[in-house]
Amino acid sequence: MSSPSTQQTFLITGATGNQGLSTITALLSLSIPPSQIHALTRTPSSPKAQRLLSLGLTVIQADISHPSTLLPALQNITSLFILPFCDMSAPYLQSTHLSNLLSAAKAAGSVKHIVLSTVICAELHPIWLRERGDSYLGRPYYESKFLCEEVLRKEAEMGGWSYAIVRPGWYSNTHYVPPECGNHFPELVGEGVLKVSYGVGERVGHVDVRDVGEVVADALVHSEKWRGREVDVVGENLGIGDVAGILAEVMKELPGVFEVKITGIEGMGLKLRGLKETFAEGTEERRKLFEMWGLEEKKDEE
Ligand SMILES: NC(=O)c1ccc[n+]([C@@H]2O[C@H](COP(=O)([O-])OP(=O)(O)OC[C@H]3O[C@@H](n4cnc5c(N)ncnc54)[C@H](OP(=O)(O)O)[C@@H]3O)[C@@H](O)[C@H]2O)c1
Repeated sequence: MSSPSTQQTFLITGATGNQGLSTITALLSLSIPPSQIHALTRTPSSPKAQRLLSLGLTVIQADISHPSTLLPALQNITSLFILPFCDMSAPYLQSTHLSNLLSAAKAAGSVKHIVLSTVICAELHPIWLRERGDSYLGRPYYESKFLCEEVLRKEAEMGGWSYAIVRPGWYSNTHYVPPECGNHFPELVGEGVLKVSYGVGERVGHVDVRDVGEVVADALVHSEKWRGREVDVVGENLGIGDVAGILAEVMKELPGVFEVKITGIEGMGLKLRGLKETFAEGTEERRKLFEMWGLEEKKDEE
């Protein structure tokens, strides 16, 4: 009997980004033939897209904001990973992009299973609206993700697709290293300060994006097991004080450099890789962290 994966052709949106690349890596490690993995990008000539092509993937040029480009991309696809990309200047466009993809999936007719990635706590938006008021911190971000989930639930029923939703925590392997830490913690590199808007005791779900890829790949391949599941993908829940402590421990050369200015959402979920594992010796993230602070990793004495 053939395994489910021999019947499946995957379309990965966001294929050149953090989650897409991690998902592709995980699909390849599950022995999915590269030719069955289609990578969607606006720019097939980019180095990342060219690397995917050299691995034998099918690289498809399309833009999720241009519906006419999507039907060719969806032809013969059975399993679709949707990563709505959040541009904070127009966050609500994410659900339009999602609808563009779903319309193309409907027209193509071959899609059977869809995995959507949003963010931890996206489902809490109506509760926060009620409890915290109209302009709660981060509303456009969480509401736009919540709307994406709502659109998928409704359309999946009408389209006859099975679906799963994964809600990743904060990426522990990009948040505290350049260039992304410049967006979230602009004072980190120059001053060693993690400045946040919530309390030290409040915890946020963190996750290594490689774990997100593994969960998404499993959800794509095993559609029956994942049908209708909605899960947080979180390695560990950390307060910003915990983060500072772990970073200082990993970077022993900089004792006390992390002064925490004060935030909180409750994350919950699976036990995956933690922050220490993310920055374990030999990892790319640790290398970047040391580079950021102008340090060299000590090698073990022979
Ligand atoms: N950072 C976090 O901690 C975190 C946590 C949970 C959820 N998220 C969510 O994750 C999403 C970002 O995922 P990521 O980090 O994997 O992305 P990323 O590394 O920033 O890459 C963005 C991807 O989106 C693609 N893309 C952007 N606009 C597109 C368009 N118009 N048409 C087609 N493709 C487009 C890009 O492809 P090309 O440039 O090749 O076309 C690229 O592959 C955001 O929505 C964010 O809210 C982030």
